[in-house]
Amino acid sequence: MQDKILSILKEIESFEILDKETFEQYKRNYTSKKGVIAVLFEELKSLDKSQKAVFGKSLNELKNKAEEKEKLYLEKFNHKEKSENQDITLNAVTQFYGSRHPIQITLNKIITIFSEMGFQIAEGPEIEDDWHNFSALNFPENHPARDMQDTFFLENPSFLLRTHTSSVQVRLMEKNELPIRAIMPGRVYRNEEITARSHCFFHQVEGLVIDKQVSYADLKQTLEWFVKKLFGENTKIRLRASYFPFTEISAEVDVSCFICGAKGCSVCKHSGWVEILGCGMVDPQVLLNCGIDPEIYSGYAFGLGIERIAMLIYKISDIRLMDQNDVRFLNQFQHFSLF
Ligand code: DAH
Repeated sequence: MQDKILSILKEIESFEILDKETFEQYKRNYTSKKGVIAVLFEELKSLDKSQKAVFGKSLNELKNKAEEKEKLYLEKFNHKEKSENQDITLNAVTQFYGSRHPIQITLNKIITIFSEMGFQIAEGPEIEDDWHNFSALNFPENHPARDMQDTFFLENPSFLLRTHTSSVQVRLMEKNELPIRAIMPGRVYRNEEITARSHCFFHQVEGLVIDKQVSYADLKQTLEWFVKKLFGENTKIRLRASYFPFTEISAEVDVSCFICGAKGCSVCKHSGWVEILGCGMVDPQVLLNCGIDPEIYSGYAFGLGIERIAMLIYKISDIRLMDQNDVRFLNQFQHFSLF
């Protein structure tokens, strides 16, 4: 029996499994229920006890060897089959990268510039009451100035969707933690027709500085620094007298058109100037409304629309693109700086 075991062992070792066919043959010969090893196990049964112990051990070793070779081939074969089933000419899976929204990119730029000047960031609620959105800011009841901002009122008419971020000024001043040097970004709502130029919601950044001896010159200097950082060193500013109920004096700020270098183009309507924000010295009555003594403190405020600035910088001609989530539009901002 030992001879048979040894000769089968040699056969197994030299058997070359090359393909599926030779593998089947190998199994038939050695590891199947009718193979030579199974036959030897049958023969083992008829041997006496002492011989069983000796040959049984070598026969088991032979069986393990044979099965090991079978297993090895199967592993190799499965691997080969898997890689043969792969189509290496298929396109790679495309990775879609997200991009920041132009409003967020623009806001980040604005925040960076004002942070460098020591401004803090503050936020307030989008659902406001009449006091914070209007009354504290010197919009008397039934005063036509309220019509400047078509308001969405809630079911309970004491509440409304804020029409501007100036409401956050009031909240900040009411806290009475002076001095104040802050910008306040946020979304605002107006009951306006949706067109290429106007929307019923958009974003603003409010600015407020309250301290002792704050002057109009401080306001001008700050805004000049801001526009040069945002639009380029050569940008000039122009302040035009205007009216807002909560500032006295009030102004609108134009910047020299950075698209055509103030030579005149469709963006600046051939005037060389584009309007970007409203500003002024905080009206003493507003300070009083918020519990601040106007004899000791003074301040300036400004407010700008983020969509408007983003549209100027990125030459976007329709404000509605901003909230349509069209990836063809959004993908174009992948390569703009994210700061
Ligand atoms: N709240 C104004 C608006 O939405 C913008 C504005 C103008 C804000 C002058 C100010 C300011 O803080 O001083 O039209």
